[in-house]
Amino acid sequence: MTALYDHLFPAYRDTASMPDDERIDWLRRDRWMALPQAGEALRRLEDVLTYPQRGRMPCLLLFGTTGMGKSEIVNRFAELHASSYDQRAGLTTMPVVVVQMPPQPSEEEFYTELLLAMNLTEFEHMSLRSLRSLSRRMLAELGVRVLVLDEIDKMLAGSPRQQRIFLNTIRFLTNDLKIPIVCAGTEDARIAVLTDPNLADRFAAFELVPWRNDQAFRQLMASFSGLLPLRLPSQLDANDVRQRVLNLSQGVTGRIFRLMEALAIAAIRNKREMIDASSFDDEALLLPLVSMQVIANTNRTLRRRVA
Ligand SMILES: Nc1ncnc2c1ncn2[C@@H]1O[C@H](COP(=O)(O)OP(=O)(O)O)[C@@H](O)[C@H]1O
Ligand SMILES: [Mg+2]
Repeated sequence: MTALYDHLFPAYRDTASMPDDERIDWLRRDRWMALPQAGEALRRLEDVLTYPQRGRMPCLLLFGTTGMGKSEIVNRFAELHASSYDQRAGLTTMPVVVVQMPPQPSEEEFYTELLLAMNLTEFEHMSLRSLRSLSRRMLAELGVRVLVLDEIDKMLAGSPRQQRIFLNTIRFLTNDLKIPIVCAGTEDARIAVLTDPNLADRFAAFELVPWRNDQAFRQLMASFSGLLPLRLPSQLDANDVRQRVLNLSQGVTGRIFRLMEALAIAAIRNKREMIDASSFDDEALLLPLVSMQVIANTNRTLRRRVA
């Protein structure tokens, strides 16, 4: 059986022989892919991690449109530096902590999220002062070397005063604790952070740019050809296929992944077992993608109204 499907990478040939529902289930699962920009971003994060402690810690701002893979990258980074327990010393170390910004951008909410990210739970009814000092103590105790704040654009939902307080909090954390901070967010977030004069010169920015019809994108399509569990070879290298994928996804990583997943599932269900230019004629398949664009545009309008 495994000699079959030689259009697939060897490691993926067995997947193609699984029953339809199992293949569909497989397709719906998230798995990390070593994309070029994501790899570059991880290298930048590594640099921040290994930086020696000194007066001014370098910080990194990872920015790009929703769906470009920012959360995937920072979570992967945290996985690569997972917490560990040293039995002899009886100590837990957590080199990387990822905090999701709370929807309500207050300092209390922020410290609450930070403590939760460090696996602490019992701190209800604590004053802001206590939350702050407990956070500080835990960051030191766990040997946290990089603090990642994901979705910092949420901060923009707050009043200008709240935003200022929040930027002060970031400044306090990097100055006082000498822990480098990585912020991930959209272009709006970049503007907010870089217009703060105290933060601007500390943060280097790394942008995740949408895919274009270039060699890197051909490589990505070739990867999909080699790993999607379809039983016949697809034609993802055709220029019109590549152009369709880019138009429908606007080059956004997450949308490309969802589109390829939908195309592959359709190819299993309709027994064509491969993807080519005509796969895009299926309207039922494209409908969710169109609504995805409408949602993205609505979000953008809402955000502009709030700002
Ligand atoms: N390196 C990657 N490997 C696998 N899937 C990815 C990768 N980057 C992005 N994705 C896909 O794109 C989707 C959106 O990524 P996400 O990190 O949530 O974007 P962002 O945080 O920038 O809005 C993910 O759910 C995942 O399916
Ligand atoms: Mg995200």
